[in-house]
Amino acid sequence: MKTATRLWSHGFIRTLSGLAIVAAPTCALFFGLVSTEGANTPSAAVQALSSVVVNADPASGKTDPTAVAGSMSCVECHKSEIAALKVSKHNSSITLITSHPKIAEFAKAANVALEDVLQDSICSSCHATQQDTGKGVHAIGSVSCESCHGGASGKPEWLKLHGDKKKGINAAVRAACGKAGMIRASNIYRITKNCVGCHVVSNQALVNAGHPVSTQKWKFELVGGSSGEVRHNFQVDQKVNGEAPTAWLKHAKGASEENRQRMKYLIGMLVDLEVTLGALKTVPKAAGKSDFAKGHAKRLKAVAKKLKEAVKELEDTTPAELAAAQEAIDDIGRISSLNFKSQDGAEIAEPKIAAAASALAENNDGSKLGKLDSVVKKRAKPRGDAYTP
Ligand code: HEC
Ligand code: HEC
Ligand code: HEC
Ligand code: HEC
Repeated sequence: MKTATRLWSHGFIRTLSGLAIVAAPTCALFFGLVSTEGANTPSAAVQALSSVVVNADPASGKTDPTAVAGSMSCVECHKSEIAALKVSKHNSSITLITSHPKIAEFAKAANVALEDVLQDSICSSCHATQQDTGKGVHAIGSVSCESCHGGASGKPEWLKLHGDKKKGINAAVRAACGKAGMIRASNIYRITKNCVGCHVVSNQALVNAGHPVSTQKWKFELVGGSSGEVRHNFQVDQKVNGEAPTAWLKHAKGASEENRQRMKYLIGMLVDLEVTLGALKTVPKAAGKSDFAKGHAKRLKAVAKKLKEAVKELEDTTPAELAAAQEAIDDIGRISSLNFKSQDGAEIAEPKIAAAASALAENNDGSKLGKLDSVVKKRAKPRGDAYTP
């Protein structure tokens, strides 16, 4: 607790002086453009994917602190969403970097000065909401609305665009918000990149010092992860927490709760694969047996198994994008024991999986994936209880 008090007071005094320049790639995920260049012999399915434009924001993953308004700006219109957030563990995520016996150990390993943990550090990029109002980056609280939906006061400000009932909300307004950086309910791929950007740890020194490689209890599974305590689908009725985003159900063509679960299951799985491969490809050959390498290899194996199961279940209804992802994983060869070959394989497979994930999201609505339902039911267990006002 002593550490906590010290960190807090330091944290907020040292806004200007405490600019820790910490290697960004650890946490920010820079898997931008699709490229099959350098791949051995890309199959037709994979080649077809290379024409897909991957979701705009190249620095995907993390929210831009300079665009963060803070969740007080949402409370006027989103009371139940705020109430749901308040009772979830996200609302106390910052305590893990203010009052935990291992803070100093982890900070040292990641080359973060203790007094900078709540400033521009990789710790606060995952355990907090970072804001920069021109005086440098610092933590303003735990994980909050904009951690997942993008900064609301960038240029242009989607905060001003999206909730204006007088001007009306229509497809054009929604699209404009998306362009201004709002990560919308419809964009499962982008939402998932944010979750995984925090829930899968890509910093080698940190993991090798004992920080969990991922969410320990439930690895990462999007359907279960978002349908328990994280759920806040109140847009149509602030008293009823829907199974799927309620406004989206109304305005998106052919949208249904079942379709959404299916799409979330597959996209969650592919993004997890993408990020895990991205982590593995950074492992130097000499560190092939480190906790980081072993931890991610274990994750890779588990997700690859889930992918295989989904493809098997879907049979002839397997979407081309999912088949391409399966092919890319098969190309890696034996992943049960991580070796140099599989690390090189990770580098080749990662952009293919990224392309497959965003193309899958783009080209499918889930309506033809009914065969997946038994798998989703078996694998997706809600984390915590959904909040009801
Ligand atoms: C002035 C009222 C108002 C404020 C303030 C407001 N919202 Fe909203 N929000 C709305 C309305 C109305 C909708 C429904 C829009 C629609 O039907 O597309 C909405 C929808 C949303 C959606 C779903 C959009 C989609 O297309 O999937 C998200 C996410 C959201 N708001 C987040 C936020 C966040 C985060 C904040 C604070 C930074 C915020 N809102 C502040 C009124 C507001
Ligand atoms: C942990 C990430 C996360 C956080 C934090 C978060 N959201 Fe969301 N939000 C989501 C996801 C994921 C969905 C889509 C839900 C689904 O698929 O069931 C969503 C959906 C929404 C919707 C659409 C709901 C509907 O019924 O149409 C609104 C509005 C929204 N969020 C606003 C907010 C506001 C306001 C906050 C802060 C109080 C917030 N969100 C915090 C991830 C998050
Ligand atoms: C800015 C980083 C960040 C983002 C984005 C984020 N999380 Fe989290 N999340 C955390 C941290 C850190 C914890 C651990 C909090 C704790 O245990 O005190 C956590 C805890 C959770 C928990 C509760 C603890 C558990 O393991 O059951 C769930 C569920 C969860 N996150 C799901 C999600 C989902 C789903 C998304 C995306 C829609 C998401 N998170 C996005 C950082 C994040
Ligand atoms: C990529 C995102 C990410 C980064 C970077 C990160 N953490 Fe975490 N951290 C998490 C998540 C997610 C959990 C929750 C894991 C779980 O138990 O499910 C966690 C757990 C923890 C825990 C609890 C460990 C335990 O054994 O229960 C501590 C302490 C912690 N982090 C401190 C730090 C510190 C200090 C830093 C910076 C040096 C840091 N973290 C950087 C995401 C991150």
